[in-house]
Amino acid sequence: MYDVYKIRQDFPILSVLINGKPNTFLDSAASAQKPAQVIEKMRCLYLEEYANVHRGSYYLSEQITIAYEEARSKIHEFLNTKSDKEIVFVRNATEGINLVAATWGRKYLKAGDEVLISEAEHHANLVPWQALRDELGIKLKIFKVNDKGEYQEEEYLKLLSDKTKLVAVTGMSNVLGTIFPIKEITRQAHTVGAKVLVDACQYAVHQKIDVQDLDCDFLVFSGHKTYGPSGIGVLYGKYDILNSMPPYQYGGDMVDTVTYEKTTFNEPPFRFEAGTPAIMQAIGLGEAVNYMMTLGMQNITAHEQELTQYTTEQLSAINGLKVVGEAKDKGGVFSFNVEGMHPQDLAFILDKEGVAVRTGHHCAQPIVNRMGYESLARASLGLYNTKEDIDVLVGAIRKAQKFF
Ligand code: ALA
Repeated sequence: MYDVYKIRQDFPILSVLINGKPNTFLDSAASAQKPAQVIEKMRCLYLEEYANVHRGSYYLSEQITIAYEEARSKIHEFLNTKSDKEIVFVRNATEGINLVAATWGRKYLKAGDEVLISEAEHHANLVPWQALRDELGIKLKIFKVNDKGEYQEEEYLKLLSDKTKLVAVTGMSNVLGTIFPIKEITRQAHTVGAKVLVDACQYAVHQKIDVQDLDCDFLVFSGHKTYGPSGIGVLYGKYDILNSMPPYQYGGDMVDTVTYEKTTFNEPPFRFEAGTPAIMQAIGLGEAVNYMMTLGMQNITAHEQELTQYTTEQLSAINGLKVVGEAKDKGGVFSFNVEGMHPQDLAFILDKEGVAVRTGHHCAQPIVNRMGYESLARASLGLYNTKEDIDVLVGAIRKAQKFF
């Protein structure tokens, strides 16, 4: 079964002392640690098999091209896409959303059309649509969550109409932890003919994804949060939609034929992968999702759900601590405020105890403000966290309270 203590041995960094204390890493929502399997795969390939992809008819290039395309197939398996041609490697989820806004958005949206997002979006799923609003004259509509940070179907349906051309929504809020019912949101969006983009940056880490079952049109996630390297992410798009989109960037590998007069473009996904891609990062990501699939996404979810419940109970027992984001359906993200203490001061003291938490607006300023705060501390869980980590966190918060 799921032996978290054994799994922790795959993550060398978890044994490194921080300020002389055991490493209590609770910032996986910002970026997760990497298992040795990912690090080793990349190290070995750099040592023995590195070359460029799709460009050389010699051994090393052929081998690395196979590894790069195998990584794409792993993502295809991870998301259960119809085909691996629906997997575009991008820099991160942010680039995936920007790509959709710049290509699909500019081609298909016109003044008066509406893009509908939730109140709990990361800046990456808000600002690109604001920019498109200012450029094209589209309208950006925002549906509300309640004071617990819960999804409100009636708020969504109030704003969904035949003017809605795109619903762009997070699968799981990086501030509130709220899990959004993306399958139902997608079904309802499709009844008015809108396309759906899911920001699965947090969701993909904690939940099994089946894009054919969800039926979403686009989905993005980042490699560095799913136990892979930074500098790589994934844009999934239904093939026909991707194939109808113009290129995002121009250069090598994304073309079919080029003359001085005219250029024709490659098919997806290569049309959207101009230039030498992040080869080793993509391969590392393939290894990372393989690691997660080997542990079993259901097992990861079950472990994290148990820990989420434990964390909720433990944090709620601290006087003066308010957890922001109390949705019934929530994943392992705990934004909180401790009365009389600035989050930055709290984080400083926690760090001395070897505890890593994030502070600030978490790149989602509007939802932090809407919940009544300028800044929050946030502890977030990964597949390697334990109840002991939470006990250390709680002990460190209590210790910090004594200073104030
Ligand atoms: N979006 C990342 C976070 O929530 C960086 O911390």
